[in-house]
Amino acid sequence: MTRLDDLGYPIVVADDATPELASFIRERAYKRVVVLADQKVARRAHGIARALRAQAEVLVFPLGERRKTLRTLERVLEALAEVKADRTTLLAGVGGGVATDLFGFAAATYMRGVPFVAVATSLVAMVDAAVGGKTGVDLRAGKNLAGIFKDPVAVFCDIGALRTLSEPHLREGLSELVKHGIIEGDETFDSLEVLAAHSLRKWPWESVIADSLRVKAMVVADDRLERGAREVLNLGHTFGHAIESVSNYRVSHGSAVAMGLRASGLLALRTGRFSASEHMRVLALLALLRLPLVTPFDDVDALLAAMSVDKKTRGGALRFVLPRALGDVEYGVTVPSRTLRAVLGRIRETPGAAEFR
Ligand code: GLY
Repeated sequence: MTRLDDLGYPIVVADDATPELASFIRERAYKRVVVLADQKVARRAHGIARALRAQAEVLVFPLGERRKTLRTLERVLEALAEVKADRTTLLAGVGGGVATDLFGFAAATYMRGVPFVAVATSLVAMVDAAVGGKTGVDLRAGKNLAGIFKDPVAVFCDIGALRTLSEPHLREGLSELVKHGIIEGDETFDSLEVLAAHSLRKWPWESVIADSLRVKAMVVADDRLERGAREVLNLGHTFGHAIESVSNYRVSHGSAVAMGLRASGLLALRTGRFSASEHMRVLALLALLRLPLVTPFDDVDALLAAMSVDKKTRGGALRFVLPRALGDVEYGVTVPSRTLRAVLGRIRETPGAAEFR
């Protein structure tokens, strides 16, 4: 078990998170727990509820990116009112990134805020979504456009759950690991290059997740409300969110972020920030991890329109997060629209010599 305390609440990375959660609930003397679960992990959620000594009940909701909506939020809030949850009730949100974002938002708004623990069961949730206090839902116009910053009282990364994920689902979370690798550089990036040669089933997940979380925690601790420096954690996401949205969420978050990391590297290269050799290293790592690098559609204008609702936009100007080097990422960068269009056109093609022209 590894425990990080850098953000003022425990982040526990454990092979089996249930006993850790149970002892946390005992220590804090919560009398009642409502477990909110994505239907996909309902069995795990019932197991967690049985293991808790506190009175625990389970409310299950079918989720998925297309259901990360105000409508689902309303259902969760109504269900909480129906079971008469109150301000002393601890809500435990079990699932992947959609679940921790949406249940976290429900906890932040129900009765103007009740305590929330995230029990992350996907790699995306463990290394990114569950940690850092961002909660929210998508609007028709774009991803995560309604939400609130609200820290959980604890986060539990349930590594055992990763063994139940299919390989493509597990692979989903690798883009966020690469993102943290680019932000931190050095050993964090190098170690991913080494691990990439090994089967995912053999990765030392506890240390991989804890190391990646340390990068995230360090950034968040300096800028919890994303007034500035936290924007670096959006590396690849301005492109990624637009790709997800334009594909109507047929392209998954992890795949879209991989394409977005390629696009950010390319934009950085073409605006004279990033070296060709480092861009090549990032592409090679993404490819070794079998993450997709090519967008499946041609509509550059649709991507630009989807990007225009990015939360980092100021006064109508898109602002990008771009690498200057591995370990050195810049935020708030504006770029010539001609270069941006050229990059959006290029990522429809497989990387090759033209990438570096
Ligand atoms: N997922 C980016 C952040 O937490 O800031």
